[in-house]
Amino acid sequence: MEKARVYALAILGHGIDMVLESRFERRREKWSETILSPTEKEIYDGLLDRQKCNYLAKVWVLKEAFVKARQHPIVGMKEAKMFSYISPNLVPSKEIAEKLKGVSIHCSLSDFKGCVIGSVILEKTT
Ligand SMILES: CC(C)(COP(=O)(O)OP(=O)(O)OC[C@H]1O[C@@H](n2cnc3c(N)ncnc32)[C@H](O)[C@@H]1OP(=O)(O)O)[C@@H](O)C(=O)NCCC(=O)NCCS
Repeated sequence: MEKARVYALAILGHGIDMVLESRFERRREKWSETILSPTEKEIYDGLLDRQKCNYLAKVWVLKEAFVKARQHPIVGMKEAKMFSYISPNLVPSKEIAEKLKGVSIHCSLSDFKGCVIGSVILEKTT
């Protein structure tokens, strides 16, 4: 009989955040320029008008949850733009992936009636 494999999961941190989509209604385009990475901006530009605040809210909660999980602030918006929410994951750019070597990012999002909630778990993989 095959032996059951046991995996040890090393959790480095966990973060959670929630926001109302309505927060992004005013000055939506300004928000998109401030918080979205180039990849996210491409996704955002391809969305229907009614989907845009939802996307901004998802990006926001995941990046805030990431900050909490890492226990270290994002260094300005430049660093925030080095991650891209490409459903269902928060994908680091090459530059930031170097800093996160050996760390996996696990994301979960949910939204209901204009409220978006997201969670990030950082796992040590090496
Ligand atoms: C740290 C940060 C994420 C906290 O966000 P916030 O909106 O003030 O916090 P919330 O209201 O969602 O949650 C508060 C709780 O978060 C937790 N928390 C706060 N700072 C935290 C940190 N650095 N790490 C982990 N948890 C933290 C605490 O439990 C806190 O509860 P308390 O007030 O009872 O102590 C935020 O202040 C910050 O620095 N964000 C970085 C800005 C940024 O670049 N964002 C990227 C957006 S694209």
